[in-house]
Amino acid sequence: MSQKFYLSRRAVLARLAAGFTSSLASPSLLLAQETNKSLAGWASPEFKPEVEIELLCQPGEVQILDGSPTRVWRYKAKLIKGPESALQSIPNSYLGPIMRFTKGQRVRIHLRNQLPEWTITHWHGMHVPMESDGHPMYAVEPGGVFVYEFEVRNRAGMNFFHPHTHEATATQVYRGLAGLIFVNDDEEKSLNLPVGEYELPLVIQDRALDADNQLVYGGGMHKNMFGFYGNRILVNGQADYSADVGTRPYRLRVLNASNARIYKLAWDDGSPIVVIGVDGGLLEYPETKPYVMLAPAERLDIWADFSGRSIGSQLILQSSEFTGVLPRMAQRMLGAELPVGSEFPIMTFRIARSESDGPALPRRLTSIKRITESQIANRNDPVPIGITEAPMSMLINGRPYADNDIQPRERIPLGTTQLIEIFHDHASGRSGRMGMMAGMGMGPMMGGMRGMGMFSMAHPIHLHGQQFQIIKRTFEADDEAAYETMRDGFIDAGWKDTVLVTPGERVLIAKPFEDFKGRFMYHCHNLEHEDMGMMRDFLVE
Ligand code: C2O
Ligand code: CU
Ligand code: CU
Repeated sequence: MSQKFYLSRRAVLARLAAGFTSSLASPSLLLAQETNKSLAGWASPEFKPEVEIELLCQPGEVQILDGSPTRVWRYKAKLIKGPESALQSIPNSYLGPIMRFTKGQRVRIHLRNQLPEWTITHWHGMHVPMESDGHPMYAVEPGGVFVYEFEVRNRAGMNFFHPHTHEATATQVYRGLAGLIFVNDDEEKSLNLPVGEYELPLVIQDRALDADNQLVYGGGMHKNMFGFYGNRILVNGQADYSADVGTRPYRLRVLNASNARIYKLAWDDGSPIVVIGVDGGLLEYPETKPYVMLAPAERLDIWADFSGRSIGSQLILQSSEFTGVLPRMAQRMLGAELPVGSEFPIMTFRIARSESDGPALPRRLTSIKRITESQIANRNDPVPIGITEAPMSMLINGRPYADNDIQPRERIPLGTTQLIEIFHDHASGRSGRMGMMAGMGMGPMMGGMRGMGMFSMAHPIHLHGQQFQIIKRTFEADDEAAYETMRDGFIDAGWKDTVLVTPGERVLIAKPFEDFKGRFMYHCHNLEHEDMGMMRDFLVE
């Protein structure tokens, strides 16, 4: 799809948002308006920001391994207005920056595209108006600027930002565009959780680098089916990452910013993982888990208490063994390096000094009102998100992403809370695909498969706008043994914006659609799937 197309879409939508009808909008008029800078997405004089940031996307070079520097794309930011604390960097990282906002703040961000291609940035997890949500229809050309304005409505939590460019999200993120948004609020502050050097942002990604240390985005056709998997784990953009810590509690703010890789986080000495928060902020009570599954775009707030450990010892955060997120034959096709579900280290904590002033883990963190049945508008008729899987097309409800292709079930009345059911929709995937696979020489692979179900894989499904609650997760497939390797690692309490749906699972969520009308995306956060069209819009009206 040409970017010109999006330019005019953007203009039309801006007109619609302003209360015009599309019939009034002739393309030339709209293009003229575009150059007049009067569209949504340009600074509005009535909006009085308390924090104003200029955010550049640009090519750069960073030292990831010894030898040649690696060419990346990166964000760089300048604080135009607001408290110094609003802009921080991830220590020694080309990723980032960290934007630190407090609930209720009004924020304006000027995104400057200094890349050689179109881009737009999305604030993942933030509940903002459509015009500031980074929908692909707002992508700007090289040299272009997009202005976002929003009030921070989210409760305390760690969100993040990344490009959301049509069919180029995966490559732009892969090249290095990802940053963090911390929202703080008074309730969180009153808990006295570890702050400053005791609060560690950890962005986990997998990458492949060639002999000259340049990023390789390989994998071909298999990459489209299963997603990209690199053979090297980077934390905060660095290889072999380690942190020196004291003998006291730390707060680890973990994001999986990988394109497709799913991790099973665990401590290498078998200690349980204590989780205090997820995507949408703190849990009501800390949860103690043997391990935690972390799919792309999911966040974890981990309470890591190193007190009582001996100086000079170390603790490794690893990904433990699991199966069942990819079809059995996939691993062979993807190659043997760092297989999905194998055990590997993610980073090392070195206990470097004794410190005794740590805070205690609060027994109760916050209160979360569970969404009740009576609040749900469509109790007996959930909105379907059918994951349609076929070898060369990953879709939703059998349809690929298309601009302004809103289906009846995708129209959501403003101010309602909707029950949504996410499931593997084998029926729509089956039609007409078998012949195509045979044509691609994949016939033998299908031998012995019991229908398309065997092609099933796990998908991290993300919904824009407000966070949701997970009501119920049901497992109904046959590979119970594979599921057992993950089962204890799901955290379904709290507020979420991304949920991993493994093969054979059906997940029921409840999501409020309040405050803003317009188009809000929902999609698979396996970025290769997203770019392939496993994405749709809800129209809140
Ligand atoms: Cu993190 Cu629509 O994306
Ligand atoms: Cu998002
Ligand atoms: Cu997917």
